Amino acid sequence: GIPKFVKIVEVGPRDGLQNEKNTVPTAVKIELIQRLATTGLSVIEATSFVSPKWVPQLADAKDVMKEVRDLEGIRLPVLTPNLKGFEAALAAGAREIAVFASASESFSKSNINCSIEESLTRYRAVTSAAKEHSIPVRGYVSCVVGCPVEGPIAPSKVAYVAKELYHMGCFEISLGDTIGVGTPGTVIPMLLAVMAVVPIDKLAVHFHDTYGQSLPNILVSLQMGISTVDSSVSGLGGCPYAKGATGNVASEDVVYMMNGLGVKTNVDLGKLMQAGDFINKHLGRSSGSKTAIALSRV
Ligand code: HMG
Ligand code: MG
Repeated sequence: GIPKFVKIVEVGPRDGLQNEKNTVPTAVKIELIQRLATTGLSVIEATSFVSPKWVPQLADAKDVMKEVRDLEGIRLPVLTPNLKGFEAALAAGAREIAVFASASESFSKSNINCSIEESLTRYRAVTSAAKEHSIPVRGYVSCVVGCPVEGPIAPSKVAYVAKELYHMGCFEISLGDTIGVGTPGTVIPMLLAVMAVVPIDKLAVHFHDTYGQSLPNILVSLQMGISTVDSSVSGLGGCPYAKGATGNVASEDVVYMMNGLGVKTNVDLGKLMQAGDFINKHLGRSSGSKTAIALSRV
């Protein structure tokens, strides 16, 4: 059977906005997070403490954190690629962080400018510093089924990186199909390989909707016992270092499917749509969520 409750990790303010060409004003980012915080979501990835040369859009991470850090009852993890990012996040009041490794050597190089092994060494330093401050660390693995440069990625590579992140102390491992090429045909063998080395209740799935495969991929993940799903309001997003990758699966579409399955999420679909409307109006764009489009017509 599938889980009775699914935790949604909203990544719109981070994964969703990081690829926007025009600078989104800090106040808009803050209001997006505040609106998302009223929907019942328990986890909202707020921003990244990465190099502003690499991701100029998130150069205001400190200012965003300052305004949202005290939102009640919401966990607000931020991405940290190294100790410098960890220290900046801590100083800005972050109480949860995420490190991000890749199952693809080429993507690791283009995204964080180092090899997989070098990144794991860095992340061991970050997780051990975080432990001293009792800061929980989430671990991402990107390119879990395919890489924009290398093509298909072997499940054993994903399992290796996931296991290393788990053993260095990450409380949860999010498996990212960064470019959205996976289907249940490739996702199932990948999950089986990872589940053999990391407990299923420590795993999350993170799908991008490039080929429209996110919902079937999420459904098979739930059937295999996964109960944490990453998504992005209105399907915002794309990765600056993964050419052609479109947004994350839309949070509204995930909530609609969970409602239909009778799976609890505690997320209010109407309020989520309002948060989506807010950011879409700002970006001058129509919703990337089929559910939001359909429901706004009725
Ligand atoms: P580098 O150039 O090798 O780093 O970049 P460096 O250590 O040589 O430093 C270069 C400059 O950046 C220096 O400044 C540092 O001080 C500064 P300069 O002396 O030139 O003025 N710097 C920093 N500044 C602020 N915060 C920091 C930081 N670190 C160094 N933390 C680095 C290496 C990792 C820093 C860079 O490649 C980077 O920031 N990469 C992040 C890219 C990124 O955020 N990508 C998107 C997120 S991952 C993703 O989307 C996948 C995911 O969504 C899952 C999925 O979809 O599958 C998670
Ligand atoms: Mg992503």
